[in-house]
Amino acid sequence: MTATGLVQFDDWVDLYADRVETMRSSAVRDLFAAASRSDIISLSGGMPDIRKLPLDEVAEVTANAVREEGVAGLQYGDTQGRLQTKELICSLMTDVGIEITPDDLTVTTGAQQALDLLAKTFVNPGDLIITEGPTYLGALQAFSAYQPEVLTIEMDSQGMRTDILEAELKKRGKRCAKFLYTIPDFNNPAGVTMSLERRKHLLELSHEYEILIVEDDPYGRLRFEGEPIDRLRSMDDQVIYLGTVSKMFAPGLRTGWVIAPLPIRQKINLVKQGTDLCGSALCQVIVEHYFNTTDWRSTLGSMIDKYRERRNAMLAALREYFPPEASWTEPVGGFFVWVTLPEYLDTPQLLNIALDNGVTFVPGDGCYPAKSGKGKNAMRIAFCYEEPEKIREAIRRLSLVIEERMALYRAFRDAGAL
Ligand SMILES: Cc1ncc(COP(=O)(O)O)c(C=O)c1O
Repeated sequence: MTATGLVQFDDWVDLYADRVETMRSSAVRDLFAAASRSDIISLSGGMPDIRKLPLDEVAEVTANAVREEGVAGLQYGDTQGRLQTKELICSLMTDVGIEITPDDLTVTTGAQQALDLLAKTFVNPGDLIITEGPTYLGALQAFSAYQPEVLTIEMDSQGMRTDILEAELKKRGKRCAKFLYTIPDFNNPAGVTMSLERRKHLLELSHEYEILIVEDDPYGRLRFEGEPIDRLRSMDDQVIYLGTVSKMFAPGLRTGWVIAPLPIRQKINLVKQGTDLCGSALCQVIVEHYFNTTDWRSTLGSMIDKYRERRNAMLAALREYFPPEASWTEPVGGFFVWVTLPEYLDTPQLLNIALDNGVTFVPGDGCYPAKSGKGKNAMRIAFCYEEPEKIREAIRRLSLVIEERMALYRAFRDAGAL
């Protein structure tokens, strides 16, 4: 009974929509509390190291934005975003070879919202979405609300295996999928980058089989060495492109964007109206002022130097400590290394032991659709947030946990108990 004497409901299971049945919590979100404990070294979150941002400058920019824009930042705004923000985004896109006008994009509440809006716009239950395998777990989460079938295409050091994709498309035919989602630069979680040749092949296939391509590019500017490779959107203006300020400035401002052909964008705008009316105007004015009035390129440049040092520390520690049975990717940018362990190891289980040893990482199974059963012997380890010495120590601790499980397996196997 409640305080007012009414019967207390205690079971809502029958009321939930079918779509929440298949939703899984993100391992990264679940680890958020653990990762902020001072005794834990976190290799789990893809968090930019905003501790390196000039905070006084950001405070000044924020104050100026409010003063100079007056009430505009505190009012409802256009669903598509402020014109000034869209103009800024156009100039940021020119840097990466994408020539657009403000009419080509919609500002979103982070790229994450764009993923949700796309799925909401395109996907009926049972529709096919094609992704890389593994892929961004937040994308799988966003898509899962719309109950798609997800087909994953494996990657190698050159990115998505477009030969495998071609074989699948041949089997399934034209327009078999609502869209193909890819993170060509410094893939989350795999850390690999799609080669130019594969990009060209992917675009050819997209036209031959009439499959929309969604290019998600949060990490593209975080390159440590080598020349940038053309963005898919710069080669083909039918590609839907997602951008964000999260990794080049601050995720707390939740500002991203989607570039898409006009008819698609009109639908997306309609869908966005029902989702949040419009994004935060205050965040947009702060973003405008930050990029228009500070030396953000040099701030980002020093952050990239830090990330490079940390990537180097992680790869060196992996070579030093990890067993020869393990293999890993060698990213030239972004935040992540993907480690593959012997088949018999189970990284969700390893995570519990790693936590007791003060380290977190993301088990690989979360980066595949739940039904696939893939990724259980893999892990995503992020080098973006911890200092090199801590990364080294975390890898050392992880290697001990792995060696111990491997020894246990061998003992069971030798005793004939497997
Ligand atoms: C591949 C990828 N896409 C999208 C996002 C979401 O970015 P945002 O902070 O702009 O919502 C992330 C965040 O980590 C990501 O890694």
